[in-house]
Amino acid sequence: MDSRSFVRRNVRPLTGIEPEELLLALAIEVLEKADREHPADRVLRDVLHRESHLSQAGAARVSRWVFQYYRWRGWLKNERGLLRKIRKAEELARRFEKNPFSLRAESLRAKAVPAWVFEVMQVDDAWLRALQREPLLYIRVRLGHERRLMQSLGQLRKTRLPQAYIYEGRRDLFRTREFAEGLFEIQDISSQLVSHLCAPRPGELWWDACAGEGGKTLHLADLMQGRGQVWATDTAAWRLEKLRRRAARAQIFNYQAALWDGGPQRPVEVLFDGVLVDAPCSGLGTWLRNPHARWTTRIEDVYELAQLQARLLDHVAPAVKPGGRLFYSVCTLTRPETVHVVTNFQAAHPEFEPLPFSSPWSGIPQVASPTLLLGPQDTQGNGMFIAAWRKRLEPASPAMPPSQLDRNKSSEATEAPSSHI
Ligand SMILES: C[S@@+](CC[C@H](N)C(=O)[O-])C[C@H]1O[C@@H](n2cnc3c(N)ncnc32)[C@H](O)[C@@H]1O
Repeated sequence: MDSRSFVRRNVRPLTGIEPEELLLALAIEVLEKADREHPADRVLRDVLHRESHLSQAGAARVSRWVFQYYRWRGWLKNERGLLRKIRKAEELARRFEKNPFSLRAESLRAKAVPAWVFEVMQVDDAWLRALQREPLLYIRVRLGHERRLMQSLGQLRKTRLPQAYIYEGRRDLFRTREFAEGLFEIQDISSQLVSHLCAPRPGELWWDACAGEGGKTLHLADLMQGRGQVWATDTAAWRLEKLRRRAARAQIFNYQAALWDGGPQRPVEVLFDGVLVDAPCSGLGTWLRNPHARWTTRIEDVYELAQLQARLLDHVAPAVKPGGRLFYSVCTLTRPETVHVVTNFQAAHPEFEPLPFSSPWSGIPQVASPTLLLGPQDTQGNGMFIAAWRKRLEPASPAMPPSQLDRNKSSEATEAPSSHI
């Protein structure tokens, strides 16, 4: 399909005169159908797809009501019926927008997220307050197309990250000609940061081990300026199929997609300059953009996913060549999936050393660190945790068993002959 027919077939009128009752009924339909197995954003997409005659403004109103409902759900218990709850959520959102500090910290702590969250992460008020805001819409402009896109699409605001812009207009970006021509991708700024930190060089060989629909694969390949190759693997064939379509639209060819089940058998027996594990996670970092997930995610998910993340890192580790880099990223903020995964990996893999990096969010003055925890309070986008290692060129001296360490410590302290200990 060429880009013109893509745009023509998907036109929605910008504004419409849909009666409010019709739009409210659609929002209620989504709320009634959504559950853990049927995430609200997918149900919403299906309903809006079915109602393709709706204007953009009408579709946007339905979406806003659905997301506001889940964002304010903790405050709606006393309202009877979904219609009243939608109205109440709308009012709360309006009040909050005028003055975010009209909401007390105790209220946020009790109502913005489920109680189990306090067990698995350091919850601060800035995070909770950030969760109640509307997210920004970030796009990643393809290298070399910034000026053209600024002129043709417009309403773009620069950020502190190259290629990352905030779109401030009201058009449905998926239906623009510029999107169909592959000039930009809709991608959160924290996801864009991951590929920038990987900083693949033209000509290198990379492995994006959990590539999904290719958000980061395409960015890595773009940063490599078409030279070298990115292996993109995933367990889900349908996701890789989407990746292929996106790559074709963006005219990106320096990648290789393949299925990988995440097990010890790697998809190809080569050593990589860099490997990225953008692992499946509990997704707490996306709760600003995806508020329904606040109420469907469970604490068991956190612990199960932490085990999977550890396994994935173990299985990719041998594929990094000596001197090569390994990046781990998750769009979550829980301790088991962030610092615990990193500490355990480090303990089990002395052949890797932490690789400090700095980012626009590392603090002022910028301090290099091998890990970064970014929250929606930093970007008004997704939260993300990133860790990096380099594989040592020489094998590390074998780790001393803890029993031996203890013995040495006490022998220093007491100067007792080791046979006495
Ligand atoms: C966070 S998403 C990846 C997002 C993607 N990197 C992007 O930037 O668009 C995690 C991906 O891991 C995949 N996955 C789930 N279980 C896996 C496993 N056991 N091994 C490898 N990948 C897995 C999922 O299909 C999903 O696409």
